[in-house]
Amino acid sequence: MKINENFLNLKDSYLFATVGKKTTAYKTAHPDRDVIRLSIGDVTLPLAPVVIDAMHRAVDEMSRKETFKGYGPDQYCYGYESLLTSIKDSYRRKGVSLESSEIFISDGAKSDCGNILDIFSADNTVLVPDPVYPVYVDTNIMAGRRIIFADANEQNGFLPMPDKKVKADIIYICSPNNPTGAAYSKAQLKEWVDYALANKAVILYDAAYEYFVDDDSLARSIYQIEGAKECAIELCSYSKTAGFTGVRCGYTVVPQALLRGGVSLNKLWARRQSTKFNGVSYVTQMGAAAVFTEEGERQIKENLAYYRRNAHMISDCLNELGIWYTGGKNSPYIWMKCPNGYDSWAFFDYLLEEANVVGTPGSGFGANGEGFFRLTAFGSEENTREACRRIKNLLINRN
Ligand code: MLT
Repeated sequence: MKINENFLNLKDSYLFATVGKKTTAYKTAHPDRDVIRLSIGDVTLPLAPVVIDAMHRAVDEMSRKETFKGYGPDQYCYGYESLLTSIKDSYRRKGVSLESSEIFISDGAKSDCGNILDIFSADNTVLVPDPVYPVYVDTNIMAGRRIIFADANEQNGFLPMPDKKVKADIIYICSPNNPTGAAYSKAQLKEWVDYALANKAVILYDAAYEYFVDDDSLARSIYQIEGAKECAIELCSYSKTAGFTGVRCGYTVVPQALLRGGVSLNKLWARRQSTKFNGVSYVTQMGAAAVFTEEGERQIKENLAYYRRNAHMISDCLNELGIWYTGGKNSPYIWMKCPNGYDSWAFFDYLLEEANVVGTPGSGFGANGEGFFRLTAFGSEENTREACRRIKNLLINRN
């Protein structure tokens, strides 16, 4: 018996687990302190009423013999027609037309970011930006793939562009980006699509934060870019859009037009999913189907406006302090430069100890994240206001 030795190449613990452990240790040592967490991007507003009503109705259906559901329909890998239809409608409003067979319901974008790799050879070279959402890197380390990095930095606004001299097979793009909050314009994404087509590469496009886009020059789906259906898989989530971080539901789009070596990636993914996945619960799918109804969109936009106000509050605070940052606009993340030459973890400790505010050290997202720090807008309005007050107080009075 041999273990998968690739796991030995991973860091000891997942970034957010390390942040969580440090925070818990601090709270245990100082039980009287009110610690505000603006670290992991976890939502704080409850589910929209339209979602709750749909889920209640679905639970009632499960209680009656006539309407009870077992496994989901296998035609579309256990996705229910009403949910697929509402997703297709939401794409249509973005100017993108999809078939039901191109949409795969999942338990969230994070799982599928890792799972999708099953359909690719371990020999492929993977291109990820640095800094990056650690899941893209760790899942490829687990599979033993070669990873190369595209430098994201202050000079390019944390939006690296393709380098024709570099040959990659799998390319990860997340826009609006986690962790930096920076978002590619449609014209910039077109360059990535052209690069992928020229290299016969596949883009894994993480659209988990697309709902925060409030600017027509930015894409809400990679399929708004000509040629993307021939080179991109899109991973989407209800987590940040509709507060499903605890409910778990997302969808992955694999277009029928996406072929490599004459093989349909849609067919490979359908084969993988029908073998390893039994679908998302009926109750969850019915809740998700309510999100993109007219009333659902109205309600989730209210929640979005709340998080946007938090993002503005944090941006205003950094503007007042004269601190450089990206994000905060079209994104729930604010990626700030650590003041006074602090490195990322030293600033984490300083902020935790002196202001009792927790963020995420930029270096945890990659070498280029060193000296940067991420705050999220997903906290409560009261906590965000108080965190900003404490940060201003600390950085104005002590420096
Ligand atoms: C984050 O804080 O980066 C996200 O919440 C992580 C995730 O969505 O898995």
